[in-house]
Amino acid sequence: MSNNVEKEDTANLGFTKVAKSEKDLLVARYFDSVARQYDFMNTLLSFGIHYLWKHTSMKMLRLKPGEKVIDICGGTGDLSVMARKAVGKSGEVFLFDINREMMLVGKYKSVNSEYRKQIDHVQGNAEKLSFADNTFDAAMVGFGIRNLTNMKQGFIEMHRVLKPGGRMICLEFSRPVSRMFRFLYDKYSFYIMPQIGRLFTGSQSAYTYLPESIRLFPMPDELSKILEDIGFIDVRYKRLTNGIAVVHAGRKKQ
Ligand SMILES: C[S@@+](CC[C@H](N)C(=O)[O-])C[C@H]1O[C@@H](n2cnc3c(N)ncnc32)[C@H](O)[C@@H]1O
Repeated sequence: MSNNVEKEDTANLGFTKVAKSEKDLLVARYFDSVARQYDFMNTLLSFGIHYLWKHTSMKMLRLKPGEKVIDICGGTGDLSVMARKAVGKSGEVFLFDINREMMLVGKYKSVNSEYRKQIDHVQGNAEKLSFADNTFDAAMVGFGIRNLTNMKQGFIEMHRVLKPGGRMICLEFSRPVSRMFRFLYDKYSFYIMPQIGRLFTGSQSAYTYLPESIRLFPMPDELSKILEDIGFIDVRYKRLTNGIAVVHAGRKKQ
């Protein structure tokens, strides 16, 4: 990390302040270090519940056959595979991610390999999507927007590439509603999760960054307001598993 952090604009990398210009690289390093074990770790740390959250989110997106969809920060492609099944042969699914390693792991997984072959992978920064305005019927982002240096810019881009009337979902971690559950979840995520991460991936820092970045992410009402300010309409959200995760949905004005 450079020593000019104080002089430059800073961004949060978990609870650590880093230069804005460095955050993308540092996040990319985290995902490089965990790419091969990413899916296994997700299932282990969430006890498999992340698949249920993803299915619920997809239902809120109400995809139809023939639609064109973008999965922003798509990683190893869980949401893209679900979208591919929903839009059928006549539809198109683009997975957009900054990290080549994550995309390669997902692309060559044997589970659902037929669907994975029909996903177009595009590498780039979600703050500058390489697609024209009004391209997609639907856009989704799962556990990704939190990692952006400028989250709002990511949503502005998502809005830009949607066709008028196009729908979006954003699935992201949040904080449990019940105090008791929140207490237990905090203990689990700050103390146990990083140790499990170290044990299975060798990277304790990636799994320290995870709970820290979750704590800094806007709460559901605040995020709804951000989405509305950008121009999304019909914004609503659903808490999942007492609020550990939250899915927001909205659409671009017709
Ligand atoms: C926690 S993973 C989520 C993957 C997948 N969406 C899922 O739900 O399992 C976050 C992904 O965001 C990607 N990412 C982080 N910063 C990004 C950026 N600025 N632009 C595009 N992708 C980014 C990472 O490479 C990683 O694959």
